[in-house]
Amino acid sequence: MRAVVVHAHGDFRAPRVEDVADPRPGAGEVVIGARAIGVNYPDLLVIQGKYQFLPPKPFSPGKEVSGVIEAVGAGVTRVKPGDRVMAQREYGCYAEKVLSPEATVYPMPAALGFEEGAALGLAYQTAHFALKDRGAYQPGESVLVTGASGGVGLACVEVAKAYGATVIAGVTSAEKGALAMQHGADHWIDLSQPNPRESIRAQVHALTAKRGVDIVLENVGGEIFDSSLRALAWCGRMVIVGFASMQLPEMKANYLLVKNISATGLQWSDYRERDPEWVQRVQAELYALYSAGKLKPFVSARFPLERFADALACFVERRVQGKMILVP
Ligand SMILES: NC(=O)c1ccc[n+]([C@@H]2O[C@H](COP(=O)([O-])OP(=O)(O)OC[C@H]3O[C@@H](n4cnc5c(N)ncnc54)[C@H](OP(=O)(O)O)[C@@H]3O)[C@@H](O)[C@H]2O)c1
Repeated sequence: MRAVVVHAHGDFRAPRVEDVADPRPGAGEVVIGARAIGVNYPDLLVIQGKYQFLPPKPFSPGKEVSGVIEAVGAGVTRVKPGDRVMAQREYGCYAEKVLSPEATVYPMPAALGFEEGAALGLAYQTAHFALKDRGAYQPGESVLVTGASGGVGLACVEVAKAYGATVIAGVTSAEKGALAMQHGADHWIDLSQPNPRESIRAQVHALTAKRGVDIVLENVGGEIFDSSLRALAWCGRMVIVGFASMQLPEMKANYLLVKNISATGLQWSDYRERDPEWVQRVQAELYALYSAGKLKPFVSARFPLERFADALACFVERRVQGKMILVP
């Protein structure tokens, strides 16, 4: 089969598509014939060697895939050859065939196409766990999503809206605000206004009768983190999801105390590894929301496998809206 192979960390344009041996399923494993591969921001960081988990080299990057089960190993009971599935992996999905433990394979609803199926995975799982578990969301609360036009951000908007939140999308242009509104945001604010420390809180206060928001799902980092922290309501919760600006913020602990707020972090892959059954239940919930018309994964760009680096360049150049897909 053909796969993107990384031999050394560094330039994300350096890896090539190579011929490699077909994977064979061991006990409890399946092989999936890939139809669509989700492109995620962390794929870029993994290739560059900047991510928190780095696979042994050489490796194929890629954390999610949709496709058809081609082979199953001993003891596999949930799926069989021919089934349409989505799978979540730590790496290995930029390939024509993907090996996965059965535990992290999710049979897709019949109405879900392969491209949307590959998009309705990591970003939505992240959004769900950020909102409901880490954010301790209560029905009807208000939620500010930063980076709301990106892959994770747009999923956060949709998931929060699906669970009845009042959603404020933090974006950097009117066009991206319109996209977030199409996906369920009630309002949008402009994160790119001068003096974000004042302007973000002022925009949020104007939309919440000066109360602030109950939850921030924070995907950007840097000064957007600092500024959104100031926009929290009494007993509000900041959920740290990502650092798309590549700037790690720092926070003074007394600020949490004086405002009775909390800050918490989310690393979704931990849930996948530590409690795959929980992740299976959440995926079933996400598929139910999709079938009810409440989630509409937005695939904005498709690339052949060979052009994976052109897709990753969109993260660097801040040209991403919703999800990008590789088609092997
Ligand atoms: N915690 C987890 O388990 C988990 C899981 C998946 C991803 N992540 C992380 O989540 C983050 C977002 O991932 P993604 O796939 O959604 O990336 P993405 O599609 O590139 O989206 C990033 C978003 O951030 C915005 N942004 C970037 N720099 C900004 C800045 N300086 N000021 C304001 N907005 C800025 C972008 O807006 P513009 O288009 O206006 O630039 C875009 O809306 C990444 O850091 C990723 O590593 C975390």
